[in-house]
Amino acid sequence: MELKKAIFERRSIRQFKPKLVERSKLIEIIKAGLQAPSSDNLQPYRFIVILNKKAIEKIFSFAPWGQFAANAPSAVAIVIEKDNKWAETDAALLTENMLLRAWELGIGSCFVGEINKESVGKFLGLRENEEIFTVLPFGYGEYTSELWPVKKKVENCVEFVE
Ligand SMILES: Cc1cc2nc3c(=O)[nH]c(=O)nc-3n(C[C@H](O)[C@H](O)[C@H](O)COP(=O)(O)O)c2cc1C
Repeated sequence: MELKKAIFERRSIRQFKPKLVERSKLIEIIKAGLQAPSSDNLQPYRFIVILNKKAIEKIFSFAPWGQFAANAPSAVAIVIEKDNKWAETDAALLTENMLLRAWELGIGSCFVGEINKESVGKFLGLRENEEIFTVLPFGYGEYTSELWPVKKKVENCVEFVE
């Protein structure tokens, strides 16, 4: 898929079909994340792929606005290093790469911002120096155009300085 098409057509998916996402595709998605820029190229992150239905339900029970994600057949926790001041920025950049590559592969996802990171971290047994950035649900999506979000128009948010 052309990059522009993926950027312009990607949308958050909050309804998932039960069909499992192939492990190879989840790896492809993570590989795309790993190509993102990171400060000093330190790449202060790792990933936990969750395929267990009960574990997915438990994780998203810690997300007040992420209940929909409990129905996803898979999820990827993005784990960052606490002592790296750019870790969140780096993780945000890799997240968008992952969302775009997933979209290209026909797989839907949605950023889940409101999630109790401490509870999820405990549940996943993170190390002392690690914390959860977010957990992305992944699944083959159900999408209806009614959910299409309104985006800012370029003429309303761009200023040129000459
Ligand atoms: C930092 C951040 C936090 C978000 N948290 C949630 C969330 O907790 N629950 C949810 O349903 N969507 C969440 N979203 C998805 C946004 O609602 C979505 O990206 C926005 O409405 C634009 O829609 P689009 O992704 O289809 O372009 C989050 C997105 C971002 C970037």
